[in-house]
Amino acid sequence: MASVTVANARKNYGHLEILHGVDIDIQDGEFVILVGPSGCGKSTLLRMIAGLEEVSDGHISIGGRVVNDVAPKERDIAMVFQSYALYPHMTVEANMGFSLRLAKAPKDEIKGRVREAAQILGLEHLLDRHPRHLSGGQRQRVAMGRAIVRQPQVFLFDEPLSNLDAKLRVQMRSEIKQLHQRLQTTTIYVTHDQVEAMTMADRIVVMRDGYVEQIGTPLDLYDRPANLFVAGFIGSPGMNLIKGTISTGGPIEFVADGGVKLPVPDDIALERGQPVVYGIRPEHVGITTGGSAAQVALIEPTGAETQITATLGTGQIIATVRDRLSLKSGDPISITSDIKNVHLFDAVTGKALEMPLHNA
Ligand SMILES: Nc1ncnc2c1ncn2[C@@H]1O[C@H](COP(=O)(O)OP(=O)(O)OP(=O)(O)O)[C@@H](O)[C@H]1O
Ligand SMILES: [Mg+2]
Repeated sequence: MASVTVANARKNYGHLEILHGVDIDIQDGEFVILVGPSGCGKSTLLRMIAGLEEVSDGHISIGGRVVNDVAPKERDIAMVFQSYALYPHMTVEANMGFSLRLAKAPKDEIKGRVREAAQILGLEHLLDRHPRHLSGGQRQRVAMGRAIVRQPQVFLFDEPLSNLDAKLRVQMRSEIKQLHQRLQTTTIYVTHDQVEAMTMADRIVVMRDGYVEQIGTPLDLYDRPANLFVAGFIGSPGMNLIKGTISTGGPIEFVADGGVKLPVPDDIALERGQPVVYGIRPEHVGITTGGSAAQVALIEPTGAETQITATLGTGQIIATVRDRLSLKSGDPISITSDIKNVHLFDAVTGKALEMPLHNA
């Protein structure tokens, strides 16, 4: 196991810069997920850590050693790709032992390590099969097995679950997490799925357009997004983000562009008339029947809770409620927001306005 440090790493293709100085410190044994929209540079960064792409500037260290000029096979890492790239003509056992055979490890040792990995992954009964006779999830497990037998310092995963159906993805998600808890190997995992990131990671790195937007534990990012991008990206349904200004007279409150007023936390320094974006997660929006501020537009029960979309001024707001309200589309309602859970963002920079209490 080893720590991994990415320090001011840049990547250009010709004149085009794809990564603009990325800094990430990954501790020994940590499970870190790189997440962000398509094209933001996740795979590029992972491939730079693996040694499959050159580092244009800055440096990457594994276990305290700068590896910019170290060949991939000397880095003591194992990578699992989206396409499992299993050898079709080899059995599961041969696929899993391939890298050890290449490294000329003794036969008994190869057999032992393959058996052990197969046992961890529940593949013992499939060792003689060929990949074409396996399900998608089983193939995925063989690809993981091939990485495990190498007992690397670091695992690198690039969207390993994206070829699986939704149910299998959820299952493999928990299997990979349990595997990490058991092996404690430093893991860097790429996905564009924020649910995968939230459920599996010790820490998440949110990327956009070749920049790191925020690094933190899943709940850090959920509870204290540093900017509008992270606020909108993490969480499903997403945080309600309403444009408006701070009131110019009377009590200090938020006035949405459509005129609706909402309360603001009293521990943030706000200027009168300041343009802001008001963020509130659906579970922190309360609904009471009657009033005139909002109107029910859509009701979507999921069983455990109900998602209610309401028109509010010129926009819409989503609330998730656990109570079974007898509402129908068109009903007038009032919206309350749990003031402790209100996020305010600078409308110009998109940055979260500081909340002294929360940052203490
Ligand atoms: N060889 C290359 N030459 C020029 N541009 C490239 C090259 N490889 C990747 N890029 C560009 O770099 C950017 C980042 O690509 P990358 O594959 O790292 O994105 P990603 O975050 O992994 O996206 P996805 O979620 O779609 O896999 C993209 O805009 C891509 O077009
Ligand atoms: Mg990618």
